[in-house]
Amino acid sequence: MPSVSQAMPRALALLTAACLTLSSCASATRSPAEGQDLPNTSASSTADNSGAPLAGLNRVSNTNETLHLYTSHIELAEHPGITNASRGAVEAQMRAYVNEHRDSAVRGTDFAGELNVSAKVTAASEAILGVSRDTYEFAGASGSESFATQWFSVPEDRRIDTEELFSSSEAWDHVKAMLAEEATRTKNTTILPHDQLPEEVLDDLQFGANGDLIVRADEYTIAPGSVGSITLTLPSSRIKALLSDYGRQAQQAILSDDSPQDDDAEEQESTESASPSEVTSEPAVDCRRTKCVALTFDDGPGPKTGVLLDTLKEAQVPATFFVVGPNAKTRQKFLKRMAAEGHQIGNHTYTHRSLSGLSKEQVSKELQSTDAAISDAIGASSTVMRPPYGAHNKQVDRLSTTPLIIWDVDTEDWRHRNSKKTVDNAMAEVKPGSVILMHDIHESTVKAVPELIKKLKAAGYTPVRIDTLFAHSKLTAGKAYFRGEHPKS
Ligand code: NI
Repeated sequence: MPSVSQAMPRALALLTAACLTLSSCASATRSPAEGQDLPNTSASSTADNSGAPLAGLNRVSNTNETLHLYTSHIELAEHPGITNASRGAVEAQMRAYVNEHRDSAVRGTDFAGELNVSAKVTAASEAILGVSRDTYEFAGASGSESFATQWFSVPEDRRIDTEELFSSSEAWDHVKAMLAEEATRTKNTTILPHDQLPEEVLDDLQFGANGDLIVRADEYTIAPGSVGSITLTLPSSRIKALLSDYGRQAQQAILSDDSPQDDDAEEQESTESASPSEVTSEPAVDCRRTKCVALTFDDGPGPKTGVLLDTLKEAQVPATFFVVGPNAKTRQKFLKRMAAEGHQIGNHTYTHRSLSGLSKEQVSKELQSTDAAISDAIGASSTVMRPPYGAHNKQVDRLSTTPLIIWDVDTEDWRHRNSKKTVDNAMAEVKPGSVILMHDIHESTVKAVPELIKKLKAAGYTPVRIDTLFAHSKLTAGKAYFRGEHPKS
């Protein structure tokens, strides 16, 4: 059984029917302004691949902490056709999932469903854009993984059908036949009639770095579920003559995994603003004698994290950031600032999957790859971890090399995205030793922090990092903590 944080039942109770309707789900993502009073999913964008050969790309995240939903899609500035198609595909997945689970999520406290959609730019040039979408869905008994890739013409601002990557419908038929052959050859467990592949297998055509055609076939589509997903590869030599102009552009636009991700201009700007630390020399605070509180920020760094860092620096307040791997990679400069300015950085996994549903290997990979991203940025790995949704089990505990820091105060900032509510919720629940949960990917949260700090200080609280809050607690790896040290009352 996953052990879900104590904050969950309250969050469930607060769900309104309106926030679960499809239209509000969609409009919340469509317009952040409209989304203010639609407390369902919250969207945030993270500049991504800005060093890539195509400017204006953004990776946009949607979260619903209650329904265990975490998705991303790609938007391209001044290209509504591309943006709508990429977002629309993910929204359709979200709608189907929310429809299926809203009743059980509202009713139950043991909600175990999960939707995780991870978009990634796999090819980009002035001519063409390729976006892959890896989906994991858990619905009750078992989870399933599926893959899809969308191709877009950049100058035409539209989605290209897979078939258009090939020179004619005969060429496309030929490719399908070769793929079916390959499926049979690769796995003798294939359950297909061997002369054809089901349509859903053909929605994930990509090219490898050497020009090979690669297709990831979802579980159960061409082989028994026990085999899992299958990757089919056709060498470039066999498909080259069959490609259309679009196909050739796609083949040439493939990005390697180590393609530049950071925006150089922004990097420069942040170097200037990263003046010597004023927060580092945190006075020796003993939270057994002082009313301490820890401000914690999850899921980032986001586009506005720099503003938050300015606020914290000005107020001389240290905080703790639980970062996710891809954001730590694309926003390395913010991690550097955090470290230089005296903040603590924690691990919030790589893909934001609920760890209690993962295998041993997957859990380790989630934690290690995020630690690698953190350590790449600041030269040290994290000393604390926060599992997504606060969900963990014995296996997760065993595999964790650091303590698990949950929270005892949930601002629900992701849901209402309202600065005043963020402050009010925090102040209503805060106690000496509290760990306050917020998300720095939301502008409303970043804007709430100056007021929150003012109110906390006025109420006699000293904001500290997690390691200070638990300085005398002998934190143990794999153990979960909700509230820190506080004076005996
Ligand atoms: Ni999170």
